[in-house]
Amino acid sequence: MNDLIRRHGDVIAPVIAFDTTLQIVRAEGLWLYDRNGNRWADFACGTAVTNLGHNHPAVVDAARAQLDKVMHSGCVFRYDALVEEAERLARITPDGIEKFGFANSGAEAVEAAVKLAKYTTGRQGVVAFRGAFHGRTMGSVTYTTSSAKYRDGYHPVLGSVWVVPFPHPYRWGMSEEQAVEHALMELEMLFRHEVTPKNIAAMLVEPVQGEGGYYPAPAPFLTALREICDRHGIALVFDEIQTGFGRTAEWFAADHFDVTPDIVALGKGIANGLPLSAYGASADRIDAWPVGAHGTTFGGNPVACAAAAAVIDVMGDLLPHARELSRRAFARFDELAASHPTVGDVRGLGLMIGVELVADRDTRVPDPEAFRHVQAYTLERGLVIIPCGPDGNVIRFIPPLVTTDEELDWAIGLIDEALSDYER
Ligand SMILES: Cc1ncc(COP(=O)(O)O)c(C=O)c1O
Repeated sequence: MNDLIRRHGDVIAPVIAFDTTLQIVRAEGLWLYDRNGNRWADFACGTAVTNLGHNHPAVVDAARAQLDKVMHSGCVFRYDALVEEAERLARITPDGIEKFGFANSGAEAVEAAVKLAKYTTGRQGVVAFRGAFHGRTMGSVTYTTSSAKYRDGYHPVLGSVWVVPFPHPYRWGMSEEQAVEHALMELEMLFRHEVTPKNIAAMLVEPVQGEGGYYPAPAPFLTALREICDRHGIALVFDEIQTGFGRTAEWFAADHFDVTPDIVALGKGIANGLPLSAYGASADRIDAWPVGAHGTTFGGNPVACAAAAAVIDVMGDLLPHARELSRRAFARFDELAASHPTVGDVRGLGLMIGVELVADRDTRVPDPEAFRHVQAYTLERGLVIIPCGPDGNVIRFIPPLVTTDEELDWAIGLIDEALSDYER
């Protein structure tokens, strides 16, 4: 065992899982470098964060310039970077999202979004969707059901949270239409048998389920949720923490749908690697949340906000390329699906692509061993990929937006080879 791994084990809580044993001393664009100069292309993007690639020069310069001015406020004084970032967010977030608050992590943004919904509706209940991942704090883990393991050891979780099915057509062996119908019927049953809608403050949904296996919400499902929320005065909250900032080749997944949320939670790619998250809603709603009803020490850190503003300044120009990359990647993965019996399903939105590996196409039995093989094979050849889904059998394919066509083809080519090697 080398020295860093041993020292890591001596002092770092083992509860925090690391995807690889790579030891990285420098990162730039797609590439992670170890101290011997070996390099790996990071198609994990630091778990869906570095959408612009590592250490994007515009982001680094903005952070550095802010470091030289002021690096902390703790909400004691006002500063440009906070307002400048919020002004940019107001320009790119879905219609009707006008004002923002900031936090440090996705889980915190989700907590704040739900608190805002509760306060402004005067209700207590939350409806969440099976397969969602919203974070690991006690509130957010209550809404998280991508895998039951996330709650092991922490029961009881919060009360007045109801979890209903999210359409998983592939896993259920249904058409998309049937899956939507089934999920909506379950929601109707919830309101009939367990809780009346007048108790519900928020309906919390990822427009593409991430950790849960990269399931995009079918458009009619989101349209129906919007209609149900409108009918009952429920706040529709989109968790765009993983889907946001170009990951779906648009600013937000909401841009793919004809549905606007009442509240959004943002994080991950927002500052391309510095810790920042945000929640946003209409001015009316946010202004109804009085001074002191929520707060933060580090949320909206000046350096993180300056970096985040730079992300928005450079990302717009990359979105057309991201759309092209997405088309190219889906076309290549469809070819893989045709030639590899291990590939059961290819799904996703933009550059958020899930490739589900199965032991048997007819029964759709998940094959996590296939994923582990592909991961080890590609890692050995310079490509980092990570899984998603409760069984760890879905390739979470999330290239940075700065990936070239050639780099994309190389990465998918390696996955192709790895699958052939597994199937041999
Ligand atoms: C959709 C979604 N929401 C919330 C979170 C939690 O974010 P964080 O780990 O920054 O608390 C994640 C993290 O993976 C996520 O993907």
